[in-house]
Formats: sequence, structure tokens, C-alpha cells
Amino acid sequence: MLRTAVCVALLLAASGCTTGYNPLEDYEQKNPATDLPTPASAAITPNFAPAVISRGRYLVGLLGCGSCHTNGALVGAADLEQLLAGSDTGIAWTNPLVDRNPGVVYPANLTPDIETGIGSWSLEEIVAMIRSGVDKHAGQTLPIMPWPSYAHLEADDALAIASYLKSLPPVKHQVPDNVRPGQRARAPFIHFGVYQSKTR
Ligand code: HEC
Repeated sequence: MLRTAVCVALLLAASGCTTGYNPLEDYEQKNPATDLPTPASAAITPNFAPAVISRGRYLVGLLGCGSCHTNGALVGAADLEQLLAGSDTGIAWTNPLVDRNPGVVYPANLTPDIETGIGSWSLEEIVAMIRSGVDKHAGQTLPIMPWPSYAHLEADDALAIASYLKSLPPVKHQVPDNVRPGQRARAPFIHFGVYQSKTR
């Protein structure tokens, strides 16, 4: 029985068994963001019809935008008054156990406030950010903002999300500046990982 389990594990890892069958041999690894086709963008016509906004709202909930872009959400206590208005808690993208001062990004304010939110972004710019992580100034955003997972949203769906964000009441809330690795963060941050105490 144990022998079978080891054999299956090996087979999956490297086709180590004598059956000669490797279930992965007909596959090659692909990066979904760059190697697979993204549905083409149709010409964008603003459409704030209630059905579009409610689809955008549904997609924003489904895709979990608020779980990063809302104050408190990353530490388990979302401030619903500040829904989607950005997070004062950042996300470290280098490992704080290895590098004492990791690089940190702060999820942006997605409400249409002109100064602190995305009020000056066009619908096209928001759609590009969601599907390819390219920001308004043509910079490439780290995949901490999970654009690779959103790369294959249909253009209409990405547009519904952008339209919903534009329809929110603007909230003035400036998130802390991003921090480069080696720089000391002044605002709190979390790091996604699995840890075990060495003293257990
Ligand atoms: C895992 C956390 C996380 C999730 C989930 C997430 N984002 Fe982000 N997002 C970020 C971070 C962090 C940034 C800031 C990146 C930076 O500054 O480099 C960002 C930046 C953005 C920006 C750029 C805004 C600006 O002012 O620069 C937009 C637009 C955006 N996200 C929209 C969305 C939408 C829409 C969703 C859901 C479909 C979403 N995000 C889900 C973490 C997240």
C-alpha cells in the first residue's frame, strides 16, 4: 500500500515508476498572464446602466478586491465605512524573515476621489490595470495586485468593474507610500506565508 503511494507520488513528480507513463508529458507549463490569449478589448463606451453597475459590484465581491483594498480587511476587521478606499496596512513582497526591511505595497484607494483615489483614471486605464497590471503612468505593477489572475476577464466584465468603481462615493483617504526593500516601513504590513515556531 505504502509502495503504491510512493509510486504515485514519484509518478507525478518525475515519472519515476517503471510503467513508463508520465501524466504530465503532454503538457508544458504556461504563464497564464503572458502565454494565453486575453480576450480583446472592445472599444470602451461608458455605460453606467444599473445592470452594468450591479454586475461590477457582484464581480468586485466575487474577486475579493475589498479584502485588500479596504482598511482593516487584511488584519480581519474591515472598516465598511471605508469600503474599497485603500488600506493603511501594506503587503510585504519580500520575506521579512530574510530581509528585515522588506519591500511593501499598500493597496490603493479605489474610490473616485481625485487626489487620493482613482478619480482621474479613465475607464480604459482602470481596465488595463485590472487585466495587465499596467498603471496609468505605464509602470508595471507587482503581481501582489493579482492582475495575473484577472488577465482573462472578458472586456465587458472588466469594464463593469471599472464602471462600478467610478460609481462609488469618493472617499478621501491617502494610503501610505510604498516602501522599497531595505527602506524602513513606517506603516504596518503583513506577509503571506506559512510559519512554524523553531522552539516548539
Ligand atoms: C491581494 C491583494 C489585492 C487584491 C485582491 C486586489 N488588489 Fe488591487 N492592488 C493591490 C495592491 C497592493 C496595489 C498597489 C500596487 C502598487 O502600488 O504597486 C493595487 C493596485 C490597484 C489599482 C491601481 C490603483 C492606483 O491608484 O495605483 C487598481 C485600479 C486596483 N488595484 C484594482 C483592483 C481591483 C478592481 C481588484 C479586484 C478585481 C483588486 N485590485 C484586487 C492589491 C490587491
